[in-house]
Amino acid sequence: MSSSAAFAPGRVNLIGEHTDYNEGLALPFAIAEGVTVRACACASAGEGQSAGEGQSVGRIVAHALDLDESDEFELRAPPPARGWRAYVRGIAVELVRAGYTLPAARVEISGDVPRGSGLSSSAALEVALALALIELGSRGRADGSGQLDRLAIAKLCARVEREWVGAETGLLDQLASLYGASAQALRIDFRGLEIDPVPRRLAGWRLAVVDSGERHAHASSGYNERRAECRRACELLGVSSLREADPQAVERLPPVLRARASHVLGENERVEAAVVALRAGDLPALGAILNASHASLRDLYEVSTPAVEETVRLLLAAGAAGARLTGGGFGGSVLALFAPDRAPPAGAREVRASGGARLLAP
Ligand code: GLA
Repeated sequence: MSSSAAFAPGRVNLIGEHTDYNEGLALPFAIAEGVTVRACACASAGEGQSAGEGQSVGRIVAHALDLDESDEFELRAPPPARGWRAYVRGIAVELVRAGYTLPAARVEISGDVPRGSGLSSSAALEVALALALIELGSRGRADGSGQLDRLAIAKLCARVEREWVGAETGLLDQLASLYGASAQALRIDFRGLEIDPVPRRLAGWRLAVVDSGERHAHASSGYNERRAECRRACELLGVSSLREADPQAVERLPPVLRARASHVLGENERVEAAVVALRAGDLPALGAILNASHASLRDLYEVSTPAVEETVRLLLAAGAAGARLTGGGFGGSVLALFAPDRAPPAGAREVRASGGARLLAP
């Protein structure tokens, strides 16, 4: 019986929100919390047969241990599903479509990223499952397959979000999970998909997150609507992405589209400023940049909520040098930066930059 295991982390986006699908910039880091998937090609999941490259047949039996729920489906053509099952079915089927041979398998999923908290629990699930299944399928093969193309995996996961879950998300979460590294943030330029590590040197300052308590789901929030607004702004400006937009032309857009595009342009500049501040060890400047990002997300991009605002207020009142919603918004978590002499309030969880997705000993 062959088996495999993989871990993929969630992420915190330090800054650069709603820029990924606009070919902009972001600065996320992988966190220690994530999702672990253990897979085995075992007879109890049905007879595994392979009908040739990319044509796996057989059954996947999946257990979400934390939820005590399970799912069972044929790899050949499973019907769509909802919730965590949509991700599992989507990843398995898209891997087969991409040419990976998967055996019939049993998979067990467990994790410690709170779902819907804006820390990318879904990307962690997608990436961990993809890595575990690819490894399982390539076990014992002499052709050296199993080489991971992390960029291709990120794109495959984003396709699953779009086509199986209905959320038109970008590549931020998956790239952060796949490329994360200990003590590093990643400056990602989504125009050319260039990823540059930036040492996360905080000199005793701390980053902490507080869950606003409001769950979000991109498929049902205003996330897809924001994407559509950005597309419309591009049409009116005659550009292929907002990265190409001329700031003066943006001023002439209708009010809502002007606000959305202005956020994106300003946020790209704030990412660059945050990289400079981080490299210079200018943490007070970083705090001010986080505050400016939040104001823009609240007032121009309009993805904040009363619960998020309350959480930001609480963190600033506790002495944070900066606080902003992290992730897509419409609920989720707030990230805050604290000077060495300021303690994050009760309920805040310190977040550290940790290693990216990896295989584990089965
Ligand atoms: C979610 C999406 C990402 C990105 C962020 C906003 O996390 O999954 O692709 O768009 O929202 O920055």
